[in-house]
Amino acid sequence: MSRDSVDLEDLEGIGPKTAQLLKSKGILSVKHLALFNPEELIELTDMTPDRVEKILRSARDIVFGSNRVSRATDLARSFEGITRLKTNVRAIDDLLQGGLEPKAIYEFAGEFGTGKTQLCHQLSVTVQLGQDKGGVGGSAVYLDTEEAFSPGRIVNIAQRFDLDPPNEALDNIYVIKVVNAADLEDRIKFDVVKLVEQANVKLIVVDSIIALYRAEFKGRERLAERQQRLNYILDWLMRIAKVYNVYVVLTNQVLDVPMGYIEVKRPAGGNVLAHAVTHRLFLRKSKEDVKVMEVLDSPRLPFKASAMFRITDKGIEDV
Ligand code: GTP
Ligand code: MG
Repeated sequence: MSRDSVDLEDLEGIGPKTAQLLKSKGILSVKHLALFNPEELIELTDMTPDRVEKILRSARDIVFGSNRVSRATDLARSFEGITRLKTNVRAIDDLLQGGLEPKAIYEFAGEFGTGKTQLCHQLSVTVQLGQDKGGVGGSAVYLDTEEAFSPGRIVNIAQRFDLDPPNEALDNIYVIKVVNAADLEDRIKFDVVKLVEQANVKLIVVDSIIALYRAEFKGRERLAERQQRLNYILDWLMRIAKVYNVYVVLTNQVLDVPMGYIEVKRPAGGNVLAHAVTHRLFLRKSKEDVKVMEVLDSPRLPFKASAMFRITDKGIEDV
């Protein structure tokens, strides 16, 4: 029996009644259960802390294995074997060292009209392509907080990549309109996990991560609360990315920050967002219709390395 096929009922310390309770709260599987921390599970189920600890420990042992120590050489080898998701824009894929890596969060920050939403649309299509064409043969979930999703754009981009018929690309994109921060938390903890488990979703897009929080937690006195909630949802996205081996892309707005006599543009969201994302990329306008993507912070990509691109009727293209 493979580890993934262990049912909630078969988990040590869980009887049919507890399994039923967990299911009634929206927990789908042992993997899904392993995403929760004790406090969250206590709040969700009213079980005692002792029971929750025990259940979570056995869920984690199944999902991550009871031996969590690996040699660095094995880690390096497993990194070489990862499948990258390409944008199919040569300059950008080169900048990203072959495309997006799974189990990581990519942030694309930039002012209005720099192509963040277009890039998310493009990835929602390329994720559907076969590996020989730069994709991973998966579906996408698009968490739309700015009413920015455009089916027409998807069809245009699908045509460019010879998806036949192009309309079919729409069937493989699950769009979730998000109304506020609490809604985003629920959608990610339950609906998104369900789509990942049951609808072959490999790419999770949040366009944009910051809009809701900026609108909802106004003023300095609510800043700490805002950052805490932001941190919480980013932590959940990372848990999902790691456990399910999926790709995560966030867009972010920018702030004008005074630096002496001038103002520079910086991604919004402060330290919380800066620390939570794996790769931070900055998009800006250049000459004429050319845009530039630049590495702002990343454990693997060279700082300040950049790529040029252009937005056309067919999506994002090389210059
Ligand atoms: P905000 O969400 O406002 O912060 O901006 P964004 O970075 O998400 O910008 P987005 O990706 O929506 O890019 C908008 C730009 O894409 C616009 O300036 C348009 O010029 C361009 N664009 C959008 N659709 C088309 C299209 O069908 N054809 C062409 N040629 N350009 C398009
Ligand atoms: Mg946008």
